[in-house]
Amino acid sequence: MNDTIIEADVQLRQFQQVLSIIEKHQFNKRKLITILQQVQEEYRYLPQEVLTYVATALDMPVAEVYGVATFYAHFSLEAKGKYIIKVCDGTACHVKGSARLLDVLYNKLKLSEKKNTTDDMLFTIEAVSCLGACGLAPVMVVNDKVYGEVSIKKCDEILKSIAEEETRISSFN
Ligand code: FES
Repeated sequence: MNDTIIEADVQLRQFQQVLSIIEKHQFNKRKLITILQQVQEEYRYLPQEVLTYVATALDMPVAEVYGVATFYAHFSLEAKGKYIIKVCDGTACHVKGSARLLDVLYNKLKLSEKKNTTDDMLFTIEAVSCLGACGLAPVMVVNDKVYGEVSIKKCDEILKSIAEEETRISSFN
């Protein structure tokens, strides 16, 4: 299968997933936040056309759905990478060197605060406030996996294991 066909196939599957999420919640507009959370899990963000579709399906004004999607910091209207790396920059983590960790990650992935997603859509880096695991400072989260006491060396190892995993996945395609 070529890349265009694979991409179209992925888009179709994601869209069918959105349909089933809305159906599962019986087109109930009071479930909007839950629906948006589940849609975001599917896409890793909330694409504009999908928000419009959700609004139409729930018989709600598009502006209202956008209002909810932009109100909560948890929702993102921008595409994110397959691996979302969150580096805690709360006080405890900052004291233990999280700013340096963030710099190293930005340098390695050629990213910055302004451009925080790689062009291949593999990585997004986010500096976040306290993740509630201060005893493990400095803390880094990759998707849902929490890493504590992250040194520069440990950070390198994490990136290396992701690269190995990606190589393994692509060798199956
Ligand atoms: S300050 Fe980083 S987990 Fe609390």
